[in-house]
Amino acid sequence: MRALLVAGARPNFVKVAPLYRALREQGSEVFLVHTGQHYDPALSDIFFRELDIPAPDVHLGVGSGTHAGQTARIMEAFEPVVERIEPDVVVVVGDVNSTLACALVTAKLPPRLAHVEAGLRSGDWSMPEEVNRVVTDRVSDVLLAPSRDAVQNLLAEGCDPERVHLVGNVMVDSLLSRLDAARARRAAERFGLTPGGYVFATLHRPATVDDPEVLARVLDAFGRIADACPVLLAAHPRTAKRLGEIPVPRGVKVVDPVGYLDSIGLQDSAALVLTDSGGIQEETTVLGVPCLTLRENTERPVTVTHGTNRLVGTDPEVIETVALETLARSDGRRPSQIEGWDGRAAERCVSAIFRRVSSA
Ligand code: UD1
Repeated sequence: MRALLVAGARPNFVKVAPLYRALREQGSEVFLVHTGQHYDPALSDIFFRELDIPAPDVHLGVGSGTHAGQTARIMEAFEPVVERIEPDVVVVVGDVNSTLACALVTAKLPPRLAHVEAGLRSGDWSMPEEVNRVVTDRVSDVLLAPSRDAVQNLLAEGCDPERVHLVGNVMVDSLLSRLDAARARRAAERFGLTPGGYVFATLHRPATVDDPEVLARVLDAFGRIADACPVLLAAHPRTAKRLGEIPVPRGVKVVDPVGYLDSIGLQDSAALVLTDSGGIQEETTVLGVPCLTLRENTERPVTVTHGTNRLVGTDPEVIETVALETLARSDGRRPSQIEGWDGRAAERCVSAIFRRVSSA
């Protein structure tokens, strides 16, 4: 099988790593395309290094822009690559603009299209990722779902059940394969923190950081939590830009985005994680570390029903109250067992893709 694997932004790299390996092990010829949506070394290169992903065969170098501009540039640059490589299948992962752009291009060309992380739905159409998910799934031939709720969403939308496969979570493949290496780096100590004695926070979503009032309220809550327990905030470039305009409370230490291993290590030894990320809701669930998600909804409900995640929104009083309660309770870790979150999801993705391509 000739497979073209697409990656564009930070969370994609974590998913692509095990897929690349599993495709090679299955005997496929694999071509890796990096769209260039994320180009900062801290958001891209370090992930390739730490996850042992080979250098991309093709780099589209599209960079940042408006949603339409970025999506259009990726589409224009990607189409001739698919025509030149002539893969049997294009594999896209996640829900970023690169996922959508490459899915739309492939849907009108001969290769099959496989979507890894299909079927997640927040029901919140104000999220650009929700648009990306729904449209990508609609045009995909192979829908690789991470959880039962995702399978149900796809079936409820009328997807052909033959195309839908419950494969589990490829992020967990990366997590389990790198956990020892992550722990060995002692990230908490390197940041001057005591393992088990700090809160790890990440913020990057437009809905949390683009409105200065919302961001100021969230930081205010972080400041009050930091009176009880120090807060380390890893800031995405989008967040870092806004933080220049808003005072950061004492007790909240802001650092540049951390690499993959330090992200896992800092979650693993935190007393509590505060985030608006999707992937971190899943990683904390597997690690058994309590997580408060600063959103009103999640496309990953299994992390709430079966995991350690709670949705707290962006009301500072709610964030502070629930965080302090959780810190006070600190009743030990509760790693969750979720079907298919076992480190072998990429193998199952590749088997399902191969079956579909062979039956074409
Ligand atoms: C993207 C994804 C989001 C994902 C996040 C992970 C979409 C719609 N959003 O959001 O789902 O959770 O990645 O990080 O695809 N920038 C840099 N350096 C970079 C890349 C971006 O400084 O390497 C800055 C630029 O100012 C850019 C802004 O970040 O305008 C936003 O980047 P973009 O790729 O559009 O989306 P993210 O917010 O990173």
